[in-house]
Amino acid sequence: MPNKELLLIPGPTPVTDEIKAALAAETWSHTDPRFVRIVTHSLEMTRDLLGCHEGEVFVIAGTGTLAMEMAIVNTVAAGERILILSQGFFGDRFEPLAKSFGIEVDVLRSEWGQRIDPKEVQAQLAKHQYKAVTVTHVDTSTGVEADLETLVPLVKQHGALFILDGVCATAAIEEDMSKAYQGNPDYKIDVVLSGSQKAIGVPPGLLVLGFSRQAVAAREAMERIPAYYGDIKNWLPIMHNPGKYFATPAVNMFYAYEVGLQTVMDEGITNRYRRHRALGRAVRAALATFGMTALAAEAVAAPTLSCVLYPEGVEDAAFRTALAEQGVVVAGSLAGLAGKAFRIGHMGNTTLDDFKQALQAMATVLNKMGHPADATKAIGVLERVFQEN
Ligand SMILES: Cc1ncc(COP(=O)(O)O)c(C=O)c1O
Repeated sequence: MPNKELLLIPGPTPVTDEIKAALAAETWSHTDPRFVRIVTHSLEMTRDLLGCHEGEVFVIAGTGTLAMEMAIVNTVAAGERILILSQGFFGDRFEPLAKSFGIEVDVLRSEWGQRIDPKEVQAQLAKHQYKAVTVTHVDTSTGVEADLETLVPLVKQHGALFILDGVCATAAIEEDMSKAYQGNPDYKIDVVLSGSQKAIGVPPGLLVLGFSRQAVAAREAMERIPAYYGDIKNWLPIMHNPGKYFATPAVNMFYAYEVGLQTVMDEGITNRYRRHRALGRAVRAALATFGMTALAAEAVAAPTLSCVLYPEGVEDAAFRTALAEQGVVVAGSLAGLAGKAFRIGHMGNTTLDDFKQALQAMATVLNKMGHPADATKAIGVLERVFQEN
């Protein structure tokens, strides 16, 4: 087994040596001016990453699920109604979450591997006055990317807040809160929620939120909300002045987050988006040479991860266990797809070389399982498709 494990699950993603070194640095006081500078710089880069120049950003200890919760409880009151557009397991998660706060919920679901039909969305939006609509940018269970170009204008025409779950997309696919979709300044994303552990490339432990002015106003309009740690009003003074205290920040995680976002900025945000799209296409094309096809059609497939169906006769647990013994870790699939497909992340700071290594290891495993696989051909396709895109 190689001495370095290649973690190609849909998050957490491989952590670079620079980010690891940052984590291991001396823990300073959370009020130390040196630490305050790190947080201030991290928040500035977060604003740039999300295009959140008019609203507010929050980076807080917690995970993506807490970010989902904060997005909802800070904008929607008990008794108000939201529409959930679910393209899989993580879209579905908004339903019990919102219901546990007494929020009225309607859910539109696509078949796994497909997008929801925008006509259905339009028809549903016409039925009720929704306070907010949730969209999962990439549902990690299916590898389908939501179509923001269509959905943002549809939702905003109806006056609802547009809440985007970017956990499996932020820093890999454009999530620009300053972008006026269709050139209309009213058609903008209101909330982006995310986590540190996927395309940002930092270990799990920090949540990231961008709130538009309209989303902040929704919080201001509610006297009290059913949250304390998760109440953005308690965090706003800290985000404006990180030397202040509300709850102890995850000091070393901030060191890592600053280096992680600096890595994103050094690559260039648009270069990073382009690299992810090319890598996604290249990985899927290479896997197809092994007779493995992505659940999502290429037109809707995500740049960040793929859910890949096994060819006839390849058994899930045996494949993933043997692959892990070769130093390459991929994830199983969820719900009805369990055993039928595996999920491979191609996001964050993963490189083309990582996927050459993964394809080599997969070919070894498949050949041992009696399923012929040509590593040289797969790597050739990977390189060609990556260059072409
Ligand atoms: C799209 C999406 N949303 C939300 C979550 C939940 O995030 P966390 O596991 O960090 O709580 C995940 C986790 O994988 C996810 O992929």
